[in-house]
Amino acid sequence: MLNIAVLVSGGGTNLQALLDAQARGEIRGGRISLVVSSKPNAYALTRAESTKVKAITVERRAYDTKEAYSDALIETLQAHDIGLVVLAGFMIVLSERFCSAFSHRIINVHPALIPSFCGDGFYGLHVHEAALKYGVKVTGATVHFVNSVTDGGEIILQKAVEIRPDDTPETLQRRVMEQAEWVILPQAVSLFCEGRLRINGRTVQIVDRKE
Ligand code: GAR
Repeated sequence: MLNIAVLVSGGGTNLQALLDAQARGEIRGGRISLVVSSKPNAYALTRAESTKVKAITVERRAYDTKEAYSDALIETLQAHDIGLVVLAGFMIVLSERFCSAFSHRIINVHPALIPSFCGDGFYGLHVHEAALKYGVKVTGATVHFVNSVTDGGEIILQKAVEIRPDDTPETLQRRVMEQAEWVILPQAVSLFCEGRLRINGRTVQIVDRKE
């Protein structure tokens, strides 16, 4: 069983989707063994505690630089023998050293169809504001590997969501979560833990389950 760490900063609905999928037996080959929050008051911590998963805070504010913070995280994750790091609403950019230490072992969920509405400054509600402002008719969510380019790693899964004429950033955010993020994030985590992802250049191929 691969040990999974989920890194969070806020409400933790994606963490909840992962915990629910695990309870249904849908995370094959891995188990969520640690939740790390960058903020002490994140509601995600309460979600973890109510399912008895170990939850800790490594506060961003306690470190002067991104590098020092990332080093502290590397140490914590290695001490817990973590084989997969899932960024689920984790609002901190990590260092190059962190990305190399867990190369192709970090995945992120982003609330748009990458390469649209992604990169520095595109996070949380801002992503949906930008999509509505641009006037796109379809948006969605992407789960991808994390490298040192913000939202630049290889794409694992994507799911499209239609935009409605009366959408606000808030209604769109909620629908993208319900219809896309909460569906594809647990699927991608399970595919990784089952060893079913093959990286070929920028393409991630999904291979059949071994019987
Ligand atoms: C989610 O929509 C997630 O995709 C987004 O923040 C929200 C966190 O919600 N992440 C990013 O924008 C990262 N670039 P949650 O805390 O309820 O899972």
